[in-house]
Amino acid sequence: MKAIILIGGFGTRLRPLTCTRPKALFPIVNKPLLQWTLEKLAQGGVTEVILAVNKLTKFHIKQQRLSKCGLKIKFSLDPPKTPLGTAGPIKKAEKIIGHDEPFLVLNGDLITEISYSEILQSHAEGKAVATIALHEVEDPSRYGVAELADGNRIKRFIEKPPKGTEPSKLINAGVYVLSPKIFEYIPTDKAVSMEREVFPRLAEEKKLYGHQVCGLWIDIGKPEDYLQTNKMLLESCADKNPKSSKFECKEPVALGKGVSIGEKSVIGPCTVLGKNVTVGRNVQIRDSVVFEDAKIGDDTVVVGALIGEAAYVGKKARISEGCIVADHAKVKDGAKLHEKVSVCPAKEI
Ligand code: GTP
Repeated sequence: MKAIILIGGFGTRLRPLTCTRPKALFPIVNKPLLQWTLEKLAQGGVTEVILAVNKLTKFHIKQQRLSKCGLKIKFSLDPPKTPLGTAGPIKKAEKIIGHDEPFLVLNGDLITEISYSEILQSHAEGKAVATIALHEVEDPSRYGVAELADGNRIKRFIEKPPKGTEPSKLINAGVYVLSPKIFEYIPTDKAVSMEREVFPRLAEEKKLYGHQVCGLWIDIGKPEDYLQTNKMLLESCADKNPKSSKFECKEPVALGKGVSIGEKSVIGPCTVLGKNVTVGRNVQIRDSVVFEDAKIGDDTVVVGALIGEAAYVGKKARISEGCIVADHAKVKDGAKLHEKVSVCPAKEI
């Protein structure tokens, strides 16, 4: 079974952290998101994975040396300076995917428990060209929403409908099965949106079906979603009772290799410290993710924030909810960042 993962987007909502790393490589409890995805695909019976990337994303992935989990992995590159959107990369990979059988498509910014074999089975039973995994959410307005007819056929698909006009609470979970016939619906070498162009047309032609899924599903599209994803996964894979007489850990907490924490500091709850993070004395960090090699000075408080790789937060600083300190940025001693302030990569504040 083949799967194509779309990971060539710009991740604008997660800037400035995405200025220096693609969304698919954001650490989720200290493991890159793409690694989680590859593991799940291998467990789900997939044998070959195509990574639909741009040049920069490919570079970053190669640097990471992820485990391939026994999968055959190929890259399919968007043309330089022409991102192909969410459908164009599928057409671009037509030769690699081939015309033999249906294949899986995944957005690369998700953590989910969706059973790939179940959605493939559901696709095989119907007359669909595309079968979308549908997940029920409270506020569907920020997603693509499906209106179902009888027999799981999607009669209307609307991308990000205005609040209050959504025809249902069933959203595109970013996982779908496509039949090779799909290649006839996507023009070559052009940016094409699956959600705004291809799905609505398939719905009109009665060739779009849905497959309802439940269980864990979350995308890391926005900073608060990214924090929430870490929080949810921490519940299942946090370090058990990381105890020390020097500092205190309030579970759930995950500490990467080589982390050093000073006396009287309190870490957690819901906090991830990446590899080689150094935390000073009397520091409080909660509901936050600190990327590898970052340093946090004495007497500093970090609450509900994202601290990038090798960033430096000085002594007696305060980093409030929703703040993002990007990679290699420096927050000087005593600085107080109010809610939702972002510091760009390598900047000093
Ligand atoms: P935002 O700019 O924050 O909306 O992020 P995004 O565009 O990266 O993500 P979005 O949720 O819009 O896209 C869904 C998936 O498709 C993500 O995994 C993206 O990486 C991927 N994607 C989006 N645009 C492209 C593209 O032009 N080329 C490729 N290869 N993948 C894309």
